[in-house]
Amino acid sequence: MTTIHLGHLAHMKDNPFETGNPPEIVTQGALAVADDGTIQNAGPAEDILNTYPKAVRCDHGDAWLIPGLVDGHIHFPQFDVTAARGEQLLDWLEGSIFPAEARFQSQEFAEGAARAFTQKLLSCGTTCALVFGSQFPGATQALFRAARSNGPRLIAGMTLMDRGAPEVLFTPADVTYRQNEKLIREVAAEPLLDYAVTPRFALSCSEALLEVCAALVKAYPDCRIQTHINENHDEIAATRATFPKQEHYLDVYARFGLVGPRTVLAHNIHPCDDQLDRMAELSCAVCHCPASNMYLGSGLFPLRSHIERNIPVLVGSDIGAGRNFCILEELAAAFQVSQLQRLRLNVARLLYLGTLAGARALHLDNRIGNFKPGKDADFVVLHPGDDPYLTRRWAACDSPEEQLFVTIMMGRETHIRQTWLQGRRVYGND
Ligand code: GUN
Ligand code: ZN
Repeated sequence: MTTIHLGHLAHMKDNPFETGNPPEIVTQGALAVADDGTIQNAGPAEDILNTYPKAVRCDHGDAWLIPGLVDGHIHFPQFDVTAARGEQLLDWLEGSIFPAEARFQSQEFAEGAARAFTQKLLSCGTTCALVFGSQFPGATQALFRAARSNGPRLIAGMTLMDRGAPEVLFTPADVTYRQNEKLIREVAAEPLLDYAVTPRFALSCSEALLEVCAALVKAYPDCRIQTHINENHDEIAATRATFPKQEHYLDVYARFGLVGPRTVLAHNIHPCDDQLDRMAELSCAVCHCPASNMYLGSGLFPLRSHIERNIPVLVGSDIGAGRNFCILEELAAAFQVSQLQRLRLNVARLLYLGTLAGARALHLDNRIGNFKPGKDADFVVLHPGDDPYLTRRWAACDSPEEQLFVTIMMGRETHIRQTWLQGRRVYGND
């Protein structure tokens, strides 16, 4: 039986940085969802209701329905330490983050955190996330298990490191291959889960560990790769000192074959032109984490330099350096950072960065990212709810485009009324 969701629809059909197109908006629209959780049709409510006269109706009133939000960079074992103490990246890692990540050695603690973490993503409208898992295989397994039962879609992997931190967090090269392989095989059987080989960053990986990453990617080419790059000046200088033979930071990863179309590099705030050109050649994606970049004083992400080279960019919360679990807030932060660089992000660009851009960068755009028939019905229902100010602000809007822009710029967890994954409600009430 088809289910019809009634509301105002908004989604991106293409990349507005290339096309300049506005979002596709259908006020008084409808989404027809098949029993198998895929989208059958999207369009004006009257047409859809006539096409499926016997369908079950789910009326969302004057709410907006947008595709599920994609978080391109978040750390599971930093779930409890947002807004932790630290001056900048390296001392924040050492003083606040490594001790917090060590707590995931307790399986019981990790199981509880995994349930709360996945639930939090869903309540914030995130239906897909690329996640740095724990250094402990059992804790990363707990994360996958929590996501398997109710979502969201996850691409995750053990955070790999074998130096520059307390030894308890080390994933030594000699055992890492087997541990990752086991998780990769378990995840392969799960339709909504994928594995990402996850060297933390160059400074925390020996050459032997990077070689293990390379071997994993070679043996399991469907895996994604995620790491950090060019985030902070001290980090960049230390990387140069640690890998003196490499031309630059990107080269450390590229030399091990870790940079390609399935790679997502987080931050990239301070790249030289040569690195940007190579990133474009190698077709990797870059994750923009504006709130984190401000919290740690890392800098302003040069979005324009990436767009000019057609480097795919997605947006990430980077919890715990970031503090916005809700990607709508991260989009508002991205807007502000771009304004400081005289690059205006209109509603199409914001919506794209939070949805289809993420789907494309993660190679999931055949399944998610917009309301194209045949894709999975992953969507978010946005409404002011009992927020009197947003209600009033909505009433003052002159056009649906303006209302959508305001909703993205002002939206947060309390405005996520429901989250749907493959046509199934996974957060919110009737
Ligand atoms: N670089 C290496 N590890 C981390 C991390 O956990 N967070 C951030 N923001 N940058 C990193
Ligand atoms: Zn990070």
